[in-house]
Amino acid sequence: MSSSANNKDPNQAMREQVCQEFHGSVTIVVLGASGDLAKKKTYPALYNLYRDGFLPEKTRIVGYARSKLSHEDFIQRVTGYIKSPSSDKLSEFKNMLSYHQGLYDQDESFQALDKHIKELEEQRDIEPGSRHRIFYMALPPSVFIPVAQHLRRNAYAKEGINRVVVEKPFGRDLASYQEMSKELGSLFTEKEIYRIDHYLGKEMVKNLMMVRFANIFFSNSWDRKYIDSVQITFKEPFGTEGRGGYFDEFGIIRDVMQNHLLQILSLIAMERPISTEAEAIRDEKVKVLKCITPVSLDNALLGQYVAANGKPGYLDDETLKNKQSVTPTFAALVLWIQNERWEGVPFILKAGKALNEAKVEVRVQFRNVAGNLYRGTPRNELVLRIQPDEAMYVKFNNKQPGLSYHTIQSDLDLTYQNRYTDLAIPEAYESLLLDVLRNDHSNFVRDDELAAAWKIFTPLLHQIDQGDPNIHIEHYDYGSRGPAVLDEFVKAYGYDRSTKNYSWPIQSVSAEKNRL
Ligand code: BG6
Repeated sequence: MSSSANNKDPNQAMREQVCQEFHGSVTIVVLGASGDLAKKKTYPALYNLYRDGFLPEKTRIVGYARSKLSHEDFIQRVTGYIKSPSSDKLSEFKNMLSYHQGLYDQDESFQALDKHIKELEEQRDIEPGSRHRIFYMALPPSVFIPVAQHLRRNAYAKEGINRVVVEKPFGRDLASYQEMSKELGSLFTEKEIYRIDHYLGKEMVKNLMMVRFANIFFSNSWDRKYIDSVQITFKEPFGTEGRGGYFDEFGIIRDVMQNHLLQILSLIAMERPISTEAEAIRDEKVKVLKCITPVSLDNALLGQYVAANGKPGYLDDETLKNKQSVTPTFAALVLWIQNERWEGVPFILKAGKALNEAKVEVRVQFRNVAGNLYRGTPRNELVLRIQPDEAMYVKFNNKQPGLSYHTIQSDLDLTYQNRYTDLAIPEAYESLLLDVLRNDHSNFVRDDELAAAWKIFTPLLHQIDQGDPNIHIEHYDYGSRGPAVLDEFVKAYGYDRSTKNYSWPIQSVSAEKNRL
């Protein structure tokens, strides 16, 4: 992870880094190339990297999947989601692509893949020692390990670097993760493995360390003495629509909390790493995760959406096999970090499908001002909006402009759209694939990090899976803010929602009349 500003164009420095790593050539193999992830995320991200000059000159991209597809059909499928491509660049990009059909559990298929890659290497005159391969596994969990085994046996580069990029789900609980990790670890080294959590590629998430550690006023108030609670919220305005079959196996806790929201939490809560090196950062993330006690049912609110506002309920999803499913589509879970910095500060993770809006944000609420001269003034809050429309603002108390000596709540606002010209925020996958090319593991999840993450959620997940009689699922309407008891639940952990006459982003001065 590069740490500070310098005079060199940072993009150029990254291009040079990629060049040094790969000596100008690499073959990227996308396994599961006919699937949704590949066409919607992987190929568009690779195109953008190509367009911006980040792919080594002699790159080839080989798609591998079971589907029988002609070259043309394949090309059409994987380039259909590229946003506003330039026609020249797109046709150059298409020339880098090929498709290789094969099975996921047969040596012969992978030997044929190896042969195909070798032919491409010969065509490009690539020297031994520079025959590098990146394997991107955009695969369903059932074939993940067999594919890794076959790759290792039949298509591992013997004359170059190997990198393997893997996607969640990484198991269903601690035991299944450990089994998977043992298997994968026997095939590839930890250095070769890049476990993607795409939230780590989002702009605001990548910004968290800088906000915390490059600003003295945050670094000095970042603890239990000043912070009352932290909320990390994930809201989606759509339900599982057609994806219920998959979702029902996992539920919202496994789908977004154990990974995306917990990653955000660890960046918010970890101690300062000794450097910006990947392992230094990941060491601190693991340390803080190990201080979190497993989340208990007493600290949980679970919910499932029902039909409302003309939209179907979760159980109406046609792809759902179990029509009595109690899989949560909403959860609010409170995590406690048992260390000197955070003891007693609730970290409230909230996530739900089929809610009233699309939003992911972190809300750090500070404590009341002790001996406050201006009684009744609301607490300070730092809000980091991860999506949509990246923004960061601090809610603070200000004198009401004019003759009055009343206080008014306003904000110090850094909304990216308003502040930065030429704003071009890359897709998470683009940024992460570039990190793979640059050999930077900072934004990937380490093996021990995942084990620590699973330890936090496994007991609760087992209670839910086993239908523990103490589990209660609240119903909420499609399109609502979540279960009706949510505000009460959050309030019980000290969150103060008072925002008298505050409105975002513009507010009237005269609206505020009731301050002392
Ligand atoms: C995925 C989940 O990991 O993240 C999905 O499986 C969820 O259920 C998605 O919709 C959210 O990602 P983003 O980038 O759209 O916020």
